[in-house]
Amino acid sequence: MSKKPFKEKVVVITGAASGIGLALARKFAREGAFIGLMDMDRAALEKCEKQFADRGYHAVGVVCDVTRQAMCESAVAKITDAFGHIDVLVNNAGITQRSVFAETKVEVFQRVMDVNFFGALYCTKAALDSIIRRRGMIIVNESVAGFAPLLGRTGYSASKHALHGLFTSLRCELRHTGVHVMIVCPGFIKTNLQTRALGGAGNITKVPQSRVGKQDTPESAAEIIYRGAVKRKNMLVLTWIGKTGYWVSRITPVMYEKIMTRQFRSELS
Ligand code: NAI
Repeated sequence: MSKKPFKEKVVVITGAASGIGLALARKFAREGAFIGLMDMDRAALEKCEKQFADRGYHAVGVVCDVTRQAMCESAVAKITDAFGHIDVLVNNAGITQRSVFAETKVEVFQRVMDVNFFGALYCTKAALDSIIRRRGMIIVNESVAGFAPLLGRTGYSASKHALHGLFTSLRCELRHTGVHVMIVCPGFIKTNLQTRALGGAGNITKVPQSRVGKQDTPESAAEIIYRGAVKRKNMLVLTWIGKTGYWVSRITPVMYEKIMTRQFRSELS
């Protein structure tokens, strides 16, 4: 296999102006890929585009709110015009929510589903024909909350479980086309995600976040995701605590619920 399997491949990343998405965009760019950067944060995106240009990377930034299907379609079309096709789509854009279910407005659930679930759905629909023609790959940034429950994050967890159902099923549908779907479940990674978490009323919450174990860096997450993509892994669970959570929740889900509830209970009081 080539030492740089993604060299000159077109990799489109949503939520690429911050955190894991940005670190992954940099990693793929260093490996010689052409990058489509999509994000709704225009200022941050322009800064990234400039940094990428200064480093001599091939990158195109398109402002796109993934909750708007037409914007996803036109962003994907712009990137396809620029590079000719799409090999890899990384559905990474996401927001979180931290609030008790009973005190959380329905609009908050709708917003979280719109960004995390429908955003990935719209982008995948828009890019799929090209990815199939290229026998490419779809990478989905889920979470531990995509395979196990998480207290105080009913909306977030629902959106990530929905992604899990959609993309594991899509993987089976696409197998005969040569397209691969890789699911990524990070543990705790130090990004801006939690500083923008929605509270029950839809505002940014001031409730401090509970966390188990040490936070990893987006750069280290990006390295592991890149290596997983090279090996076309089905599912990657990142960080020690993420992996422990995965196995405990598979082997003894009752114990997982008890331990996790104990760890996160203080957030709800
Ligand atoms: P981040 O907040 O640093 O980056 C998220 C990016 O998504 C931002 O640039 C933001 O502008 C963009 N975004 C948000 N809503 C958008 C929309 N409607 N349209 C387009 N772009 C939008 O957060 P982070 O941590 O890098 O998150 C990336 C993904 O990783 C998310 O899907 C998150 O759920 C997932 N994840 C993160 C974990 C962590 O500990 N940081 C743990 C598990 C999963």
